[in-house]
Amino acid sequence: MYRTHTCGELRIENIGHEIILAGWVQRIRDLGAMSFIDLRDRYGITQLVVDENTDESIVSKLKELGREFVVQAKGVVRERLSKNKNMPTGEIEIALSEIKILGPSKLPPFTIQDDTDGGDELRMKYRYLDLRRNVVRENLVLRAKMAHSVRTYLNSKDFIETETPVLIKSTPEGARDFVVPSRMNTGEFYALPQSPQVFKQLLMIAGFDRYYQIVKCFRDEDLRADRQPEFTQIDCEMSFVEQKDVLETFEGLTKYMFKKVLNIEVEDFPWMPYSEAMEKYGSDKPDTRFEMLLNDISEVAKGKGFGVFDKAEYVGAICADECSCYTRKQLDQLTDWVKRPQIGAKGLVYVKCNEDGSFKSSVDKFYSQEDLKQWAEAVGAKPHDLILVMSGDKEKTLSALGELRLEMGNQLKLRKKNVFKPLWVVDFPLLEWNEENNRFHAMHHPFTSPKPEDIALLETDPGKVRANAYDLVINGVEIGGGSVRIFNSELQAKMFDKLGFTPEQAQAQFGFLMNAFKYGAPPHAGIAFGFDRLVSLFAGLETIRDIIAFPKNNSGRDVMIDSPSDISNEQLEELNLKLDLKENK
Ligand code: AMO
Repeated sequence: MYRTHTCGELRIENIGHEIILAGWVQRIRDLGAMSFIDLRDRYGITQLVVDENTDESIVSKLKELGREFVVQAKGVVRERLSKNKNMPTGEIEIALSEIKILGPSKLPPFTIQDDTDGGDELRMKYRYLDLRRNVVRENLVLRAKMAHSVRTYLNSKDFIETETPVLIKSTPEGARDFVVPSRMNTGEFYALPQSPQVFKQLLMIAGFDRYYQIVKCFRDEDLRADRQPEFTQIDCEMSFVEQKDVLETFEGLTKYMFKKVLNIEVEDFPWMPYSEAMEKYGSDKPDTRFEMLLNDISEVAKGKGFGVFDKAEYVGAICADECSCYTRKQLDQLTDWVKRPQIGAKGLVYVKCNEDGSFKSSVDKFYSQEDLKQWAEAVGAKPHDLILVMSGDKEKTLSALGELRLEMGNQLKLRKKNVFKPLWVVDFPLLEWNEENNRFHAMHHPFTSPKPEDIALLETDPGKVRANAYDLVINGVEIGGGSVRIFNSELQAKMFDKLGFTPEQAQAQFGFLMNAFKYGAPPHAGIAFGFDRLVSLFAGLETIRDIIAFPKNNSGRDVMIDSPSDISNEQLEELNLKLDLKENK
């Protein structure tokens, strides 16, 4: 028997018991007459003691031990003289009677403790050591608990958990595919799924009625804090439902998870049309933890001789409460911040609202006090507030102002981690114009149905058609997205036509789906949550890397296993891929 108890288990009631523990040596303190070893496993830390009564053979054995050795320790539980109230096992210790090294350890490259001295790259290279740290492991325990709660909820609602294939077919929509060469089909490739979208729709045609899967998806896109090349979705689909049924079910799931995992009751989720999210928050994923809404002040700001505003399609402003005290330096910093290429604004105009009701602005030359008063009224500003104004092309300015709003939210500490504000963003546009290749792209994906009342617009003004699509947004993070699907092959063919597919291309890419629609397709709709994003939100973390056991770094590399990597000439030959790949290098 390796152990009778774990290292987090023993308490005062166990005093006098003979026990065996196994674990890792966290640290050894040699105080001369006495030595203490902290023994650690997943469950906690227990203190082992060697003193004048301990057998000499054990005392000499201690000299062989070092940090992170795996040992088995036998002894008797006894009460501690100086108790440590901060740890669950802090009232007892083990008088050692035997110790055996099960696995020696080299000196670890960083300390295995909450505030480690290891840098990011080093910890990624030795991820298995990083995972020994409580803070990292706890995130993965949280992840497991959340996955469990998803399964409990969806199983209770009659969803069938079904696996879909990982080697599928490359499609031209969405992000770039990761592809896998086929040895048996020379010159041909599989693609890894960006999502199981078409399979879950086929399962609805197959009559499964309710499907879910906690599933790996793969997208070859630029990485950010909330994006990994392989990530996990809670992927779902339902038949004979409308949008409100899907939203109800998955609002229920989200609330269930908040309650089960964090013991938080969240209020009913408001619905916000996409157009309102853009106008008021400058984003399709509004952070509704704080107000500071965007205001269109074009009417009061234009026509007073300030060329920049006069020329602009849109002049918008936000009002930061109690910020008229911002210094020249702070305002210059904000201006530099909005001018960064990521935001891309040309400049920032400010108006300070003074205590006496007067105003001080960066455009005093062009605007009278009376003019500025109109601005203040338009944005609801009071004395001591700061109005920040941007102008230009409407869409770009809304989005830049939305970013500035978030930055001000950060500076004013309005984005509290322990406050959760979920909402549904609905009525997304069906199509978005892509400048690069001069055609419409599906904003969600090509299987999303237009709102019935907008179908006629598909012919006359496709950009105006709204989709039966929805996103779950929490605290400014897009947690999930889905839509009511097209389930009619003619409408689906029309959609592909609008997306610039010839009938032959549509047939070659998605013929199987359009064909399936001809064999009795039920109305259906679905959604997928980004599981990693949901876990990192629950954990209060900024990046999803921290809640993935073995994540990729920002260049998409796994630095621990050193992947991606070369493959041998034999493998290339076998795959008939000898190409010029290697020569080109
Ligand atoms: P969508 O593309 O919106 O929808 O993806 C659903 C959710 O997955 C998460 N997500 C990501 N998480 C981490 N890293 C990534 N690279 C990444 N990309 C997406 C987001 C997102 O909201 N098949 C449709 C769903 C449907 O219509 O049912 C789909 O995949 O949280």
